[in-house]
Amino acid sequence: MIRNQVVLRQLHDEKQIDLLNAVFETQETERKRLAEDLHDSVGQVLSAIKLNLHRLDKIIENNDPKSLLSDTRKLTDECIQEIRNIIHNVLPPVLTDFGLLDALQSLCERLEQNTAIKITFTKDLPNERFSSEIEVTLYRIAQELFGNAVKHSGASAIQLQLTREKNTLMMSFSDNGVGFDPDNVKHGFGLKNLQSRAQFINGKIHTYAKPHNGTLTTIKVPLH
Ligand SMILES: Nc1ncnc2c1ncn2[C@@H]1O[C@H](COP(=O)(O)OP(=O)(O)OP(=O)(O)O)[C@@H](O)[C@H]1O
Ligand SMILES: [Mg+2]
Repeated sequence: MIRNQVVLRQLHDEKQIDLLNAVFETQETERKRLAEDLHDSVGQVLSAIKLNLHRLDKIIENNDPKSLLSDTRKLTDECIQEIRNIIHNVLPPVLTDFGLLDALQSLCERLEQNTAIKITFTKDLPNERFSSEIEVTLYRIAQELFGNAVKHSGASAIQLQLTREKNTLMMSFSDNGVGFDPDNVKHGFGLKNLQSRAQFINGKIHTYAKPHNGTLTTIKVPLH
């Protein structure tokens, strides 16, 4: 019995380490994405602004610098908008201010505007707030699932559903795209992170996917 207990303890410790590693990996991937986003968007625009200022300095004495000025003003606006977009991706203000339901609603609306996919969001529960861990985690999971559907599925329709049954919150996400074989696909960070994110809020996540048959992912989270 003691030997069994030692083995069990070891397995438990190993699982904890795996989980911690997955959390660190998630953080690092997100930092990397943030750094890349900043470099590609704000970094580029700021370099252009700096170059314009340098040119202004040179021509200001004997030329009309108006067009360069208006160009620089446009670049500054662009920069402000890029920063807004990045802040929105890192932690959407609507999520912290108004909660999960409103944040998912606005995510769906934005995606429908920016893609040709028909998105249906059904929420079968009163507009209440959950713990910030649950709200942020479910929002991130939805972001990844939307990202995957847009990138890989070729779907024409996506359904997102949020329901509550007593003390269980359930989110389900489905697309009608090309589907995939979960056992035979190279898991990127996305699919791995979904598992560790769900575990973080004691949730259970299942993906049902077959080639040529769309995908369905369900997440069940205990509320107390
Ligand atoms: N909704 C989907 N429809 C079709 N294939 C999918 C879908 N979701 C995932 N896949 C397949 O599973 C693979 C792994 O997905 P995963 O999210 O782990 O990685 P990724 O999206 O390629 O990269 P990352 O999420 O790290 O940016 C994808 O490359 C794709 O082949
Ligand atoms: Mg992905």
